Amino acid sequence: MGNGKKLNQIIIKILKKNGLNTNHATICSKALINAELVGAHSHGLSRLKMYCDRIQKKVINPKPKIKIKKISQSISRIDANNSIGFVAADIGIKQAIKNAKKTGIGLVGIKNSGHYGLSGYYAEQAVKKNLIVFCFTNAPPAIAPHGAKKSLFGTNPICFGTPTSSKVPFILDTSVSVINRGKIRVAARNGKKIPEGVALDKFGKPTTDAKKALAGVQLPIAGFRGSGLAWMVDILSGVFTGGNHGGKVKDPFDDFSGPQNIGHLFFVMKPNLFVGNYSERIKENIKRIKRLPKIKGVKEILYPGQSKQRRYKKNLNKKINIPANIAEDLKKLNA
Ligand SMILES: NC(=O)c1ccc[n+]([C@@H]2O[C@H](COP(=O)([O-])OP(=O)(O)OC[C@H]3O[C@@H](n4cnc5c(N)ncnc54)[C@H](O)[C@@H]3O)[C@@H](O)[C@H]2O)c1
Repeated sequence: MGNGKKLNQIIIKILKKNGLNTNHATICSKALINAELVGAHSHGLSRLKMYCDRIQKKVINPKPKIKIKKISQSISRIDANNSIGFVAADIGIKQAIKNAKKTGIGLVGIKNSGHYGLSGYYAEQAVKKNLIVFCFTNAPPAIAPHGAKKSLFGTNPICFGTPTSSKVPFILDTSVSVINRGKIRVAARNGKKIPEGVALDKFGKPTTDAKKALAGVQLPIAGFRGSGLAWMVDILSGVFTGGNHGGKVKDPFDDFSGPQNIGHLFFVMKPNLFVGNYSERIKENIKRIKRLPKIKGVKEILYPGQSKQRRYKKNLNKKINIPANIAEDLKKLNA
């Protein structure tokens, strides 16, 4: 079952059984397998059952009528009609790329979407077309705003990508929590502890118990700065696009009372908007940083995205390792 091709067929079959068409099921399957290959298991197969549960409970629409409205040559608005997030995001990034290729800048705001997995997956699509990109999405409450007792912001990833003039793109793709929520979910499911300093329990006490952390709050990166970044992403993805915001995005695992209405924002730019020699300049920029003297134990200074690309290449021809509980889910979903 761990073979990529066979796995792809199984996932597509499961999603089609849940009402998706072949094209949409393939988009989702590719994104899920990519997450496994880059080692982001918390955003891969471990979520398939949740997406199917949400379809069954009618809070993800398996047959969405996605509307794309042109606001200008550069700007488009998408209403995803409660589609699974992968499909909305795939359409959104392709539209942003198209707009940027035409005018130099492509801006796409998406509302009524759902959890779309890894921001970097969409950023890569733009970078492969030699474009600079920002991707934003909001997520269900996980982080308490600085000074508040209750979680409200999601782990709201910030993602920036650029071509580098080498085959490996620069993709900074980071949650604004100390660790992403998916990792805590996987730890809770597997009865594992989480590191110290990443979460507080519901009484505000530091905890390494994953279940208590899920019931409590996650800590943002860098204190009030991380809280500010989470807020910025909530504004850009939610307030700006028409999506839910301010703590209203529902938890996809625990709250089936309605669709998530997550918002995404994709901002894509041609790298030569201000200079004609961007590729030489970025090459020189990376070279200067990589040449710096290194601290003890560090062999190489990596730029964001490099280690992920290495993991992907290493895993590409290997069998995908599926934990027993997830294999069991797949078996049931495929029955
Ligand atoms: N859709 C959602 O709601 C949602 C929410 C949160 C996170 N996510 C996704 O989860 C994924 C994982 O997020 P994360 O915060 O755990 O990322 P992470 O901590 O694994 O990596 C963060 C960034 O640091 C870079 N990096 C890692 N090691 C490095 C090194 N040695 N030198 C230089 N740079 C290095 C990575 O390339 C990456 O860009 C992301 O793809 C994110 O988009 C999605």
